[in-house]
Amino acid sequence: MIQVKDLRYRYKKEGPEVLQGLDFSIAKGEIFGFLGPSGAGKSTAQKILYKILDGYSGTITIDNKDLRYWGREYHEMIGVGFELPNHYLKLTGKENLEFFGSFYKGRSKYPAKELFEKVDLGHAMNDPVETYSKGMKMRLNFIRAVQHDPEILFFDEPTSGLDPINARTIKELIKELQSEGKTVFITTHHMETADQLCDQVAFIAKGRLMATDPPSKFKEAHGRPMVKARSLDGNTREFPLEAIGRNRDFLDFIQDNPIASLKTQEATLEEVFISITGETLRP
Ligand SMILES: Nc1ncnc2c1ncn2[C@@H]1O[C@H](COP(=O)(O)OP(=O)(O)OP(=O)(O)O)[C@@H](O)[C@H]1O
Ligand SMILES: [Mg+2]
Repeated sequence: MIQVKDLRYRYKKEGPEVLQGLDFSIAKGEIFGFLGPSGAGKSTAQKILYKILDGYSGTITIDNKDLRYWGREYHEMIGVGFELPNHYLKLTGKENLEFFGSFYKGRSKYPAKELFEKVDLGHAMNDPVETYSKGMKMRLNFIRAVQHDPEILFFDEPTSGLDPINARTIKELIKELQSEGKTVFITTHHMETADQLCDQVAFIAKGRLMATDPPSKFKEAHGRPMVKARSLDGNTREFPLEAIGRNRDFLDFIQDNPIASLKTQEATLEEVFISITGETLRP
């Protein structure tokens, strides 16, 4: 659905190259995540993809057509959840939704009430947005992006500022979009969000892609193939994962001790993030 080849970008002609040749592709129905330190170029790359920033070099193909040749109809096809939502504060949530929806042909797909209820904002849809908390604004931002039923969705930090319950709602709604066949491209600093949602994640630092893979593959590659067993009385032992079912020491240990936990020693995505992008952060 999205193919990016050698994407380069400078904000100013003489300025630094903030994207230094990105290559990635996102299949239809995939949830793809950009992870990387602040200033890495995540939002810049997304803004180019949703045609807010022009003047890039490289090739971007969306649904088999060069992004440069997509016209106004491109905006019907994509939905964008911006990093810093710019709602009209004096208008109510519903008026904001309707105002931003009025730009689209496909706007009548869902009734407003249904959308607000989806993100647990049903009670506040007729309140001015200036009375909304940050998390409420983020949830309004989400329904603004999906209301015209686009094929491709971009979310810049979709769970930022949300409590765990609202974050889970948003994650479930993103999964739901995927089950409808939509293609989703997110950027996030929440490793848990990336881990739970993304089929593929790409680590980006200083305008370059460091690695792209499914989260599980990263976690295995950066972890140790071991199982750590801890007994209720605080005894801990590690055993190699390979052929663990025939490992006499392991079987004796779990038979002879009341077990409190058994954990495989794969890395967390946070550890992978630090290990992959950490070097680039040092001066
Ligand atoms: N409008 C702009 N003009 C000039 N430079 C910019 C502009 N916007 C961003 N930059 C620079 O481009 C680089 C990439 O910024 P970008 O916003 O894409 O980072 P990011 O990865 O989204 O970071 P964050 O995680 O903080 O959102 C940074 O060095 C930033 O200072
Ligand atoms: Mg950003």
